[in-house]
Amino acid sequence: MDWSKLAFSYTKTNTIITSLYKNGEWGPLESSTDDTIRISALAGSLQYGIEAFEGLKAYEGCDGKIRLFRPEENAKRLQRSADFLGIQAPCTDMFIKACERAVLENREFLPPYSSGASLYIRPFIIGVNPQVGLICPHEVLFVVAVTPVGAYAAEALKPIKVLLARDHDRAAPMGTGSYKIGGNYAAAMLAGIKAKQQGYAMILYLESANRKYIDEFSSSNFFGIKDNSYITPDSDTVLPSITNKSLLQLAQDMGLTTERRKIALEELHEMDEIGACGTAVVITPVHEVVDNHNNITIKVGESERAGHISTALYNKLTGIQFGRKHDTHNWCRIIT
Ligand code: PLP
Ligand code: COI
Repeated sequence: MDWSKLAFSYTKTNTIITSLYKNGEWGPLESSTDDTIRISALAGSLQYGIEAFEGLKAYEGCDGKIRLFRPEENAKRLQRSADFLGIQAPCTDMFIKACERAVLENREFLPPYSSGASLYIRPFIIGVNPQVGLICPHEVLFVVAVTPVGAYAAEALKPIKVLLARDHDRAAPMGTGSYKIGGNYAAAMLAGIKAKQQGYAMILYLESANRKYIDEFSSSNFFGIKDNSYITPDSDTVLPSITNKSLLQLAQDMGLTTERRKIALEELHEMDEIGACGTAVVITPVHEVVDNHNNITIKVGESERAGHISTALYNKLTGIQFGRKHDTHNWCRIIT
């Protein structure tokens, strides 16, 4: 495998791990070399999008050890999404066991430390019993698949330009934005297609209630740096990102102040650095936000180089994930 050419795309690996919730209990975790599944054509996941997923990564460290980053946080978030959908989710222990097993059974797909790439883990739950009524599925399939991945939107720390969503919303007020459910991503597809046609890899959404404040990107949270402060939106419609939560802590550790508050679009002009953060994008600096409707381009920082605080945060975060830096907060779980 040419690890240097890895994109954020799917490569079939040895096995997927599954478990079926039926008759009120989870069945054993099973491995399958077949990455196709057989479910009813009338499954709630197919009819009504009753699906929730997670995304985390396994890293080969500089010491050769395999690390998962805060997997219990992903387990809890999946449980929260499941509660929203009214379906069962695996308990934290089962979730982590399944992720570890998926990594170990696909060890040769874990990119080597020197590549800087990682193994993306995609746990998900879907309603599988046949239904036509709008009821919560009582049979749920839990699946964990893995795939080696490289950079999501741009190579590490390369600033990108993004499109400001002016004719699309991602999440409704009091809606589903804060849950990691498939429907949210379906809702962002058309906006994504249009943005790609115009040459943008990512879209920045505003809060749909007012279209005044920054919300997030379709696959990551927003952060800004201003006067030595790490600022991220306070919004009920953004996904509670585990990366962002970790960066807030790391920023504090570095002596920055941190703020979770409303960020008006106009305030971007005053930011020293802005960027996207998440498992897939890690930290992707943004140097231009293009508002086509108003013919305005907001420029922040340099086009060729990430700002020094984004760079320091990136180095700290990836340093912990790849075992180069001391894991002060005990975030990594080493797989043995
Ligand atoms: N926001 C959205 C909409 C996402 O899909 C993701 C990715 O999971 C994130 C934010 C980042 O979350 P995390 O850091 O937990 O990966
Ligand atoms: C992740 O960062 O793990 C995600 O789930 C983003 C995904 C939509 C590509």
